[in-house]
Amino acid sequence: MSTNFKARDMAEHQITELDEQLLRRKLRTTESPCDAKARVGERELKAFCSNDYLGLANHPKIVAALAEGAKLYGVGSGASHLISGHSIAHDLLEKKLAACEEKHIPKARALFFSTGYLANINAITGISRLAEQGQASIYSAKLNHASLIDGVRLASAQNKAKVTLFDHQNLDSLEESLKQDTYPLKLIVVDGVFSMDGDIAPVEKLLHIAEQYDALLMVDDAHGFGVLGEQGHGILEQAGVHSERIIYVGTLGKAAGVSGAFICAASPFIEWLIQKGRPYIYSTATPPAIAHTLLSSLELIEGDEGVSRRKKLNELIQIWNEEMTFSSWEKTPSSTPIQPVILGSNANALAVAKLLDEAGYWIPAIRPPTVPVGTSRLRITFSANHSVDDLRELIQELKIIEQTVEGNV
Ligand SMILES: Cc1ncc(COP(=O)(O)O)c(C=O)c1O
Repeated sequence: MSTNFKARDMAEHQITELDEQLLRRKLRTTESPCDAKARVGERELKAFCSNDYLGLANHPKIVAALAEGAKLYGVGSGASHLISGHSIAHDLLEKKLAACEEKHIPKARALFFSTGYLANINAITGISRLAEQGQASIYSAKLNHASLIDGVRLASAQNKAKVTLFDHQNLDSLEESLKQDTYPLKLIVVDGVFSMDGDIAPVEKLLHIAEQYDALLMVDDAHGFGVLGEQGHGILEQAGVHSERIIYVGTLGKAAGVSGAFICAASPFIEWLIQKGRPYIYSTATPPAIAHTLLSSLELIEGDEGVSRRKKLNELIQIWNEEMTFSSWEKTPSSTPIQPVILGSNANALAVAKLLDEAGYWIPAIRPPTVPVGTSRLRITFSANHSVDDLRELIQELKIIEQTVEGNV
């Protein structure tokens, strides 16, 4: 047998290259529930990096609901939705999720997925297949999340969809391209809250453009659902929009504190995705206990507790925006719990993340390809479980670190 194993050599070579470019990512194992503090080995770190914006991931009601769901439904679903995996818990959850968005999407129906990544792939590839091969035209914002990018790439490979990328928040260039577009199916795809920048897509304007040029508008509200809007129903609630052209994706592993995601759209689109969405059809349904847990999470999000947790988050965001003005580090204008500090090179971002780690903070350096080359950053995120003092201490620590590295970073 040959010991010459080329694939292993290639893997080792590629990993060495990643090390050299300061792009190798490292896993860190926690030993505590997701919360404002994390136990990592012997250390307790103040975590400002999760997407558990409302602090629900370890909420006693949610923990109890999961146990109850397991008692009621067991653990595995046993099959994909269209075979025998679709339980009453999934059905109740989908109806509840549709009710969350029905003020904004007439004839709304929802479809539940195990992850946002899958929901996005399913939505983009499925919707583009409404048109014949080569007849769909997709407009995708350049800073969209990887799952949207991959969905667009797959639609291009599978269904020969034409792809046009448009610059971040540049609606003029989007409109310019749409003016020339004669394709029968046009789909605009954007992050609702941009995941690495924290700024919000101008949904009302985008919808106006979609209407003008007979396009659909897909909004991935992974970081808005639970956080934005009076009731936490997300970006559509906040923007007060209403249209059958909207294909909405919300994720349930971030502010909702559990896991999964959903597509919500007018009924004919959802029915089509049930028929043709390959990730939906060919994947085992999420455990029904998770769907059951999510019903409790939605109750919290919509109820008084959700309202007060969003209020708390907004207080933290306001303090951050007011008190970080001393810093000359670049920040993006953000009114959400995602607050990036852009440090440029991989080396700079890693150096500052290391100093923060030494001071007891967990805020990893985010590097390409997650963000464009030269914009490596700290992605600082807030949770309603952070106290005002937690935040002020972090700001103080950043001040010290900025002074320490001045001239080097
Ligand atoms: C904007 C955006 N969309 C989709 C996803 C994927 O969602 P999930 O983690 O549920 O797969 C993420 C995850 O980080 C995201 O940031």
